[in-house]
Amino acid sequence: MKQLPVLFKCSHHRKGNSDLAADLFLQGIRKAGGDAEIITLGDMDFKHCIGCLKCRTAENNRCIFADKDGAQELYDKIIEAPFTFFSSPIYFYHLPSRLKTFIDRGQWAFEAATGNSDIFSGLEIRPAYGCLVAGRPKGEKLFEGAELSLKFFLRFFKTELQPAITFRSIDEPQDLQKDGEKCAVLLDAGEQAWKRMVENGS
Ligand SMILES: Cc1cc2nc3c(=O)[nH]c(=O)nc-3n(C[C@H](O)[C@H](O)[C@H](O)COP(=O)(O)O)c2cc1C
Repeated sequence: MKQLPVLFKCSHHRKGNSDLAADLFLQGIRKAGGDAEIITLGDMDFKHCIGCLKCRTAENNRCIFADKDGAQELYDKIIEAPFTFFSSPIYFYHLPSRLKTFIDRGQWAFEAATGNSDIFSGLEIRPAYGCLVAGRPKGEKLFEGAELSLKFFLRFFKTELQPAITFRSIDEPQDLQKDGEKCAVLLDAGEQAWKRMVENGS
């Protein structure tokens, strides 16, 4: 295996619930004998997609900002990873702005996947996993927009988001840590993700 699985911490706030979610998922992976790379996406700033559509016709659908920040390097990791994991809080019923900016910059991948490019043609479909945490206890559609955006973004990289783990009433930075049952769900999810990868021989 060339590239380890990549776990993205997407909150703008360090040492809170989403950070712990990724750490627990990693613990589960390690329990199964594996390892993963953690990327603190919530600390990274990316140039915003300006909708210039130059990526539609550029060689390899390269974004005009590809050499200006770290986004392209992260897309390459997603392409090479056997699986990925995204942990994120809900901000105003959606994903935090840095993650959303990263998603919008992925427009080049949409152009590549739907155009004539063969960048993704040799890739197998690999799973992506997610954990979304929200402070509010209620709200039928609390996770809907976030999950949809993540799912369709990842699909262009030939990764299929599995139904996300969603936790409500997790608001204060220590709330997840205090909830043993929810922590166990994440540990188990990481362990199963690694085992599934080994069983599938990828
Ligand atoms: C800017 C902002 C917007 C938020 N919007 C929502 C929201 O729409 N719905 C909700 O349930 N919680 C909302 N929250 C609460 C966070 O989702 C919650 O505190 C979460 O546990 C934070 O995760 P973290 O510790 O990983 O940063 C918001 C928090 C912030 C800072």
